[in-house]
Amino acid sequence: MKQKVTAVVRSSEEIAAGIMDLWLGTDLAREAKPGQFVAVYTKNASKLLPRPISICRVDKEKPALRLVYRIAGAGTKEFSTYRAGDEVEVLGILGNGYPLEEAAGKTVLLLGGGIGIPPLLETAATLSGLSGDKAPVKVYTGLGYRSGKDPKELFLKTEFDAVSEVLVATEDGSEGCKGTVLDAVRACKKLKPDVIYSCGPMPMLRAIKAYAKETGCKAYLSLEERMACGVGACLGCVCKTVKKDEHSQVNNARICTDGPVFAAEDVDI
Ligand code: FES
Repeated sequence: MKQKVTAVVRSSEEIAAGIMDLWLGTDLAREAKPGQFVAVYTKNASKLLPRPISICRVDKEKPALRLVYRIAGAGTKEFSTYRAGDEVEVLGILGNGYPLEEAAGKTVLLLGGGIGIPPLLETAATLSGLSGDKAPVKVYTGLGYRSGKDPKELFLKTEFDAVSEVLVATEDGSEGCKGTVLDAVRACKKLKPDVIYSCGPMPMLRAIKAYAKETGCKAYLSLEERMACGVGACLGCVCKTVKKDEHSQVNNARICTDGPVFAAEDVDI
């Protein structure tokens, strides 16, 4: 159930240039699933809409949510100043998340680019923890970064290494394959994914949609880059869909309320 709560900052640190790692103590963590997100309010909620931020890790015991986000404007700049003990208003849990049941018995590939990488960490950790009929055969992760000249820029990579086989691509070729994550995937001849779960910039998602069509695998795209408020208030997130919406009879969907995860063949991007 979606609710607005007061969460408490457990820790906040910069893990790469402009990339923040925030742990929030909140009961919302008990319901969170991979690929879902929360909307975080600034202190002056009348000035700015809440900022949608994907969930990077979930600790159901504590309970706490980890949000890894890029400082991109006034709202996220304010969040970056928060320190342990500060209180913050959060609305969640939002969005549909990745359909992990599709991964059962399959070779799974997670693809993340830039700030699309964080939501895949909870996804990878959850998939690697599944057992019996629900478990995937193998989990690969393809991570796309700008550069790896400074090892810090490869944020979260070591955590993905612990739960999956990782392929890295960098724009400048300083680490892994030079190019995009899909260049790294194509270069890995043994990799034949059945299912892809992805999150990243729109050109990357378009390329994944084309790759899935070409290879016959199933792909899920998280279109979160297109969100603004995250709570259905701004209408800034509409995307074209292949099928008509049952109620409105139009070919579109609101990414924040109908997504952010869509089957690649269902969206016209
Ligand atoms: Fe504002 Fe969807 S992001 S309505």
